Amino acid sequence: MKIIIKSPREIALIKKAGSILADTFDYLKVHTKSGISTLELDKLAERFIRNKGGIPTCKGYEGFPGAICISVNDTLLHGIPSRKIILKEGDIVSYDICVTYEGYIADACRTFPVGEISTEAKRLIDTAKNCFFEAVKLIKPGVHLGDISSKIHEIGTEAGYTLTEEFTGHGVGREMHEDPSVPNFGEKGTGVILKEGMVIAIEPMLNEGKVDLYIQNDGWTVKTVDGKLSAHYENTVAITKTGYEILTLEKGEELWPSKM
Ligand code: MF3
Ligand code: CO
Repeated sequence: MKIIIKSPREIALIKKAGSILADTFDYLKVHTKSGISTLELDKLAERFIRNKGGIPTCKGYEGFPGAICISVNDTLLHGIPSRKIILKEGDIVSYDICVTYEGYIADACRTFPVGEISTEAKRLIDTAKNCFFEAVKLIKPGVHLGDISSKIHEIGTEAGYTLTEEFTGHGVGREMHEDPSVPNFGEKGTGVILKEGMVIAIEPMLNEGKVDLYIQNDGWTVKTVDGKLSAHYENTVAITKTGYEILTLEKGEELWPSKM
């Protein structure tokens, strides 16, 4: 394992990538409406990111065709934008986005409602977000990564959801996926000890039903086997001298969970 410690200058560049990314969420939120295709949303996101001076990192990454990943309802991860996938009232849609700015990458994901959604779907989305914020609060130098992972798992399972062990968060920097791996399960007091200058993507993923997933034959789209909903919430976080800094928040998001 090779964990790359970032300098304040490098963290500032990731934060700049993160601010473009957060603005992209605000922009996509406005366009998240019944009738729009995920391909149209992808085009909007790509143009927005490039206009702000960023690069949509996912485009061409290991052959991924989209600028961002767009995952609807029972798709947990890596949905390929498509003109055939049209949002409809009551859907939930996640945008998983990486932005590169001057060689540095920020990675984040939000799940949004399409119009009015069920209270159950809303609870799923809110719990994914809550997993992140409850876990991130624990971060400071000297804390074990297992403390973060186990908190995400605890909040998710106590709310009645399942969490995959197949996909995890990760370090992020010049590469989209760096060490360490940041699982959504683990044992307190185990694993990597966090240090100032580490930058990690923490990404709770929750399934409403069973934990089982499959990958569609497009080689990317990850879906729940039982067809139930899934939600995903992710931010890029820097470990600071005294705690942490979230590098991918939209304005107002730092107020969570007071709005719950
Ligand atoms: N943010 C996603 C992840 O960390 C990126 C997926 S890679 C892509 O898993 F190629 F699908 F974009
Ligand atoms: Co990620």
